[in-house]
Amino acid sequence: MTKFKSTKHKILVTSALPYANGSIHCGHLVEYIQTDIFVRFLRLIGEDVLFVCADDTHGAPIEIKAAELGITPEQLIAKVYKEHTQDFKDFLISFDNYHTTNSPENKNYSDLIFERLRKNDFIYTKDIEVTYCEHCKRTLPDRYVKGKCPKCNAPDQYGDVCENCNAAYKTIDLIEPYCAICKNKPIRKTSKHYFFKLSKFSNKLGSWLKKNKNLQPEIKNFVFNWIKNGLEDWNISRDGPYFGFKIPGEEDKYYYVWLDAPIGYIASTDHYCKKHGLKTEDYWNNKNTRIYHFIGKDIIYFHFLFWPAMLLGSDFQLPYEIVVHGFLTVNGEKMSKSRGTFFTAREFLQNYEAEHLRFYYASLLSKTMSDIDLSFDDLSKKINNELAANIGNFCYRVLNFLNKNFDGEIKDIDENKELINDINKVIENIEENYYGLNYIDVVKGILHISSLGNKYFQDNEPWKLINEDKEKVHKILGLCINIAKNLSILIEPILPQFSSNLQKQLNVKDLKWKDINFKLKNHKIGKENILIRKIEEKEIMKLEFPLNLKVAKILEVREHPNADKLYILNIDIGTEKRQLVAGLKDYYTQNELKNKKIIVVTNLKYAKLRGIESQGMLLAGDDGTGCGLLTVDNSNPGDKAYFDGFENSTKELSFDDFLKIQMIVKNSKVYFENKELRTDKETVKVERVKDGARVR
Ligand code: 2FM
Ligand code: ZN
Repeated sequence: MTKFKSTKHKILVTSALPYANGSIHCGHLVEYIQTDIFVRFLRLIGEDVLFVCADDTHGAPIEIKAAELGITPEQLIAKVYKEHTQDFKDFLISFDNYHTTNSPENKNYSDLIFERLRKNDFIYTKDIEVTYCEHCKRTLPDRYVKGKCPKCNAPDQYGDVCENCNAAYKTIDLIEPYCAICKNKPIRKTSKHYFFKLSKFSNKLGSWLKKNKNLQPEIKNFVFNWIKNGLEDWNISRDGPYFGFKIPGEEDKYYYVWLDAPIGYIASTDHYCKKHGLKTEDYWNNKNTRIYHFIGKDIIYFHFLFWPAMLLGSDFQLPYEIVVHGFLTVNGEKMSKSRGTFFTAREFLQNYEAEHLRFYYASLLSKTMSDIDLSFDDLSKKINNELAANIGNFCYRVLNFLNKNFDGEIKDIDENKELINDINKVIENIEENYYGLNYIDVVKGILHISSLGNKYFQDNEPWKLINEDKEKVHKILGLCINIAKNLSILIEPILPQFSSNLQKQLNVKDLKWKDINFKLKNHKIGKENILIRKIEEKEIMKLEFPLNLKVAKILEVREHPNADKLYILNIDIGTEKRQLVAGLKDYYTQNELKNKKIIVVTNLKYAKLRGIESQGMLLAGDDGTGCGLLTVDNSNPGDKAYFDGFENSTKELSFDDFLKIQMIVKNSKVYFENKELRTDKETVKVERVKDGARVR
């Protein structure tokens, strides 16, 4: 039988706190699902585990977004809190406590830690130069000042890192800086800031890393390198206006969001403990407690250096394990709105079920930083061919057979030693793999057991054997029902709903890890039912293409009164007529344009060009020397133009976002992500330009 081991430690588990300025998306869910599976497993085993998280509510982006929306930051974070908690509930993430960093508990612990660090001489102040916008009357944080990269001169880079050459720098180093909010030129100002002496912790952090056997070796290595290269002290304050906690004794200075965010782990624990008559110190100041953080690889620096140093400097306990996962790609692409590969949790649920994603992610996850890919084709295959056809089918046919032939009642089991031994070995592996966060092999193990079950059922041909040896068949069914029962427990951390449905059909309830055995006898089951819905071809999620493209016919062409290169076109897009302003005068005569059927973007924000409104934009190829229109012959005004596998978006798009979309000409056709642009009737053609031309 399974070993059933429990560590006899108190365990605290956290997932990273999501920012309260946006929706939970499929990338976030990798982590919450990874953590939730671990926690559910620990609960099943009988560990004393607490799972806490919170919204990360402070910082400039939240303050600025609220201002844009014309609401207070408090209103914004309240709205997001509701959304986030609903998303987590629907994805079956079983937090014991989900709090907010804008809470009295977090204020209390942030001040406590800050004061302890100050008392222990780990904090000092220093005047630094900052970037200030006189128009917006604010110091501009990293992401709100843009300019040319000081290293490579790439234009329009943020104030902290260059997306072109990856150089890191300060906002004041940007060349020709401008305020990202109002586009005005900012000035430099001197401001006093609080610094945390991270450099003092190099040795202690180094020996913690060395001693801790649980941390992933590949991560340890590069954290060691950071330490070796010398740690810089850390600016932990920000000037107002800022949404956050005021620094004690200051008028308009706040803790930097990354100071109070991880303290949110303690605050959420505290909030829970107060409600349940427990002690927060039992989690955060107790050698016997094991603290697990789950994070993504983008925030390693914060969790392996800043956070442990803060804990060390204020006499709290260090994490026992920090599990780092990789990023999510979607259909092999980086997640991005302009590529149509960005899906929120909510959008996923429009086509699929939460457990589809839980099973899919589990089948790819292990304790590594490798990225994982959400491929919608693979998702369907895994759900249909593995989950439904293997486990779902085994359970269904066994329950169905028992109900039909034995009135749902098992008596004894077939003592098939070999099969039982085989299964027990797999179960031991599964247990180890859950502890080791190696879910890929957990899923393989579970599928292996149901395959063994299926094979055993199939090989015995009970539908024939029942006429010769009914008693034997009855025992075979007894063993099969025990296998199904064990599967319901083994799979619970990954598919809690599937598991509880199956247990309901088996007429058992809330089984724990210790109930994994072959002892269920003389037992009557309930009615069988389909356990998991297959994914139909038509439901497979299309990626969103940010443009809404339609066929348009040019009705009329006029010269622009105030511009040399521009025409004004009247066009028909089927449902309506619109006016476009287009820079075609160097390339096309008015006669060449008239009556042409072209492709236009209909969801672009209307803009005035030299005083005349353009209600959309036509698409053309541009190879640097020439310019050629996208045309069709047999399609009609209003017909949609699209790339296979993508759904046109109808959301309004800004010109800046339009420019990020890369469509390329090859063989006089237009390609996006290797798919060609077409209408239902034909492939769209491009006139006059060479291969490699950009489409604009
Ligand atoms: O990167 C992020 O999304 C942060 N909101 C994570 C914070 S985790 C913790 F330290 F608070
Ligand atoms: Zn400004």
